[in-house]
Amino acid sequence: HRHLLGIEPLHQEDIRTILDLSERYVDLNRQSKKHLDVLSGLTQINMFFENSTRTQASFELAGKRLGADVMNMAMQASSLKKGETLIDTALTLNAMHPDLLVVRHPHSGAVNLLADKVNCAVLNAGDGRHEHPTQALLDALTIRRAKGRLHRLSIAICGDIAHSRVARSNLLLLGKMENRVRLIGPPTLMPSRIEEFGVEVFDDMREGLRDVDVVMMLRLQKERMDGGFIPSEREYYHRFGLDEEKLAHAKPDAIVMHPGPMNRGVEIDGTLADDINRSVIQEQVEMGVAVRMAAMDLLSRHGREGEDQA
Ligand code: CP
Repeated sequence: HRHLLGIEPLHQEDIRTILDLSERYVDLNRQSKKHLDVLSGLTQINMFFENSTRTQASFELAGKRLGADVMNMAMQASSLKKGETLIDTALTLNAMHPDLLVVRHPHSGAVNLLADKVNCAVLNAGDGRHEHPTQALLDALTIRRAKGRLHRLSIAICGDIAHSRVARSNLLLLGKMENRVRLIGPPTLMPSRIEEFGVEVFDDMREGLRDVDVVMMLRLQKERMDGGFIPSEREYYHRFGLDEEKLAHAKPDAIVMHPGPMNRGVEIDGTLADDINRSVIQEQVEMGVAVRMAAMDLLSRHGREGEDQA
C-alpha cells in the first residue's frame, strides 16, 4: 500500500504485519534510549485541520523516534485563512518534497482527495465521520495484548456511533479479524441500516454488555451534531454511561477502552476509567505511538522500493 487512508482496503495479513512490527516498537519505547534511524533523511509533515492531543503528539513522537525530520504545520496560522484551498495547500507542501504527510480534517473524504494530488505517502489521522485507521490499529494491538488474541472475541462499541470515525474503523477491522461486534447506543445516535454491517444493535446497556470480552466507550461528538438531536448529559449518563453496575453484565475479565478525549461523568464513570484492573485507556495511548511508528516505517519501505525501481 502507498498510503494509509483507512482500514477498508486492508487484508488480515496487512493488519497482522502492522501489529507485529508495532510490538517491536512497544519494546523500543520502553527503553531509555528510544531512537532508531529507519526514517533518517525523510521529511514528515503533520497537517491537523482539527484539534488533537493524542494523535498529533504520537505521530510527532513516532517520527522523531525513528529519525525523520518532522514539521508540524500550524494550520490555524496558515494561508487557509486567506482563502487558499485544501488542494492548493497540499500541492504547495508537496512541492517541498515531503515523504510522509499526516493529515486530520473535519470533512469525510478530504484526506483521500488530498492523497490523489501528492507524490508522497499520506496517513489519515482522522477525517470527519469516515475513518481513523491508526486508532483502530492501536485499539486492535491493545486488545490483542490484553486478550492474547484478536479473533472470536465479543466486543461492544457503545455510545455515539453515528458520528464516530473511530467506531467505523474499528467495526471494519474487528469484522475483518472475525470478531463478534455489538453496537449499543440510543437509536438517534445509530447510523441508518447499520445491521447491514453484520452487527447486533442494542439500546440497552445491560442487555448489550452481557458476556462481552471488550467494552469500547465513545464520546458524544457534539461538534458533529450540527443542529440535530443532542441528548442531555445527565439522562445520557444514566442510560448509557459506563459504571461498575453496568459493567458487571460483561465477562468478569472484560477490559474497558476509550479512544479519548474522555468526558468523565458523561459516557464513563471517572473512577472506573482510572481503575487499572479494568481500564486499558493508558495502554491505548502507549500503543498509539508504537502503531504510528510501524505504519510510517512500512509506508517508507514502500516508498524506497519505488525509488529502487526508478
Ligand atoms: N483518539 C484521538 O484521536 O484523540 P485526539 O483527538 O486527541 O487525537
